Amino acid sequence: MDVTIFGSGYVGLVTGACLAEAGNHVVCIDVDPDKIALLNSGGIPIYEPGLEELVSSNHAAGRLVFSTDAAFGVQHGLFQFIAVGTPPDEDGSADLKHVLAVAQTIGQHMDNYRVIVDKSTVPVGTADKVAACVQAALAARNIDVDFDVVSNPEFLKEGAAIEDFMRPDRIIVGTDNPRTAELLRALYAPFNRNHDRVMIMDVRSAELTKYAANAMLATKISFMNELSNIAEAVGADIERVRVGIGSDPRIGYQFIYPGCGYGGSCFPKDVRALAHSARAIGYEAQLLTAVEAVNERQKDLLFQKIHDYYRGELAGRTVAIWGLSFKPNTDDMREASSRRLIEALWQAGAAVRAFDPAAMDETQRLYGDRPDLTLTPDAMSAVAGADALVIVTEWTQFRSPDYAEIKERLTDPVIFDGRNVLDPTQVLAAGLSYISIGRLPKQPSSRQTSPS
Ligand code: UDX
Repeated sequence: MDVTIFGSGYVGLVTGACLAEAGNHVVCIDVDPDKIALLNSGGIPIYEPGLEELVSSNHAAGRLVFSTDAAFGVQHGLFQFIAVGTPPDEDGSADLKHVLAVAQTIGQHMDNYRVIVDKSTVPVGTADKVAACVQAALAARNIDVDFDVVSNPEFLKEGAAIEDFMRPDRIIVGTDNPRTAELLRALYAPFNRNHDRVMIMDVRSAELTKYAANAMLATKISFMNELSNIAEAVGADIERVRVGIGSDPRIGYQFIYPGCGYGGSCFPKDVRALAHSARAIGYEAQLLTAVEAVNERQKDLLFQKIHDYYRGELAGRTVAIWGLSFKPNTDDMREASSRRLIEALWQAGAAVRAFDPAAMDETQRLYGDRPDLTLTPDAMSAVAGADALVIVTEWTQFRSPDYAEIKERLTDPVIFDGRNVLDPTQVLAAGLSYISIGRLPKQPSSRQTSPS
């Protein structure tokens, strides 16, 4: 089938590459000529395991074409995917200007029936706005062409996006038109394996499903983070509590890991946008507001712990940080907890030595050259000469480090484990102090000495 995808960002590229891999002819359109030139020369603008290979093999096979020519894109695909960004407005609502600009472009160029597919995460009611935009553009041309607007949200996790697309838990198709539903079902047939994963529903329910999924997951995390603070206060171990409650299948083990807060391009933005949508129609989403507030507080927690440990004497200290991306297997630092910590440390007069397996270029891009930031070539170099080590992202390579070497390199042998990934017994046995998110043994009391 012929498919056009507007937006060659994260969602658009993964969707395009996977649909091409299934044998479709895909044209990816983007307004950014540099991005299209990079893609045509075999590069990709984002870090996602397996994506570069998938893009280049399908590009070489002629099934995946990149262009800035929107008219060509509209002519090409029966399916017109909208996969452009919906950045948050100042008030937290999703900004639809890119989505509606694509809708207008489609209306300006289409001459035959088109299925317009909203892939971007968009507030309930957006499909109606897209339809109105297309209709207005057609009316301005004085022509009448049939089209449908479908909501087909993505549920891709960064770092596992290709696997998520190839083996989806569910394929949500929001449309009231049975003929369009069948077209989408046919397009997704290669990915609809073992049992029927296509769920057809009305457009608004499909749009809300995406927000509901992310809000639910964010709620689980904030709930556990809240519990971890209570555990710490009452002298319980959150990791034991986690295993204890996860064994109940109604609760489950997934997404109940406490830590220094969730980040990324989806959870923070979507929780805020959903709360905003609710408020706009006069409903105060108290739970969502609390989920967001707990996360904001949790992102400050590591700094608070470091601050308390050193009794506020942070000026002149150096802190080693392992992990800068918002989660492992990505270089994405959007809303990353590391940023909150680094900026608070700088504010308090401390310097940072940092290492991340993927996000070094991104950190450099964000912060540039500064005397209080040293990016090191490996994890152990970050620790050299630092006072404390802080683990902010749970990359696998940080899980069982050489504790003796860490102890030797740190001036003040203490580890702040923002993701509870280390084995406290081993850390303590190596003669290091250990401060975690809500685990026993009890946190050591604050240090007495002044900066070295
Ligand atoms: C998320 C959703 O999982 C995905 O379905 C949706 O399409 C987009 O948003 P992603 O942003 O890639 O995907 O990240 P995810 O793996 O879900 O992790 C989000 C954040 O939650 C990370 O910062 C992670 O560290 C944190 N997290 C996750 C926890 O703190 N505890 C957990 O138990 C799980």
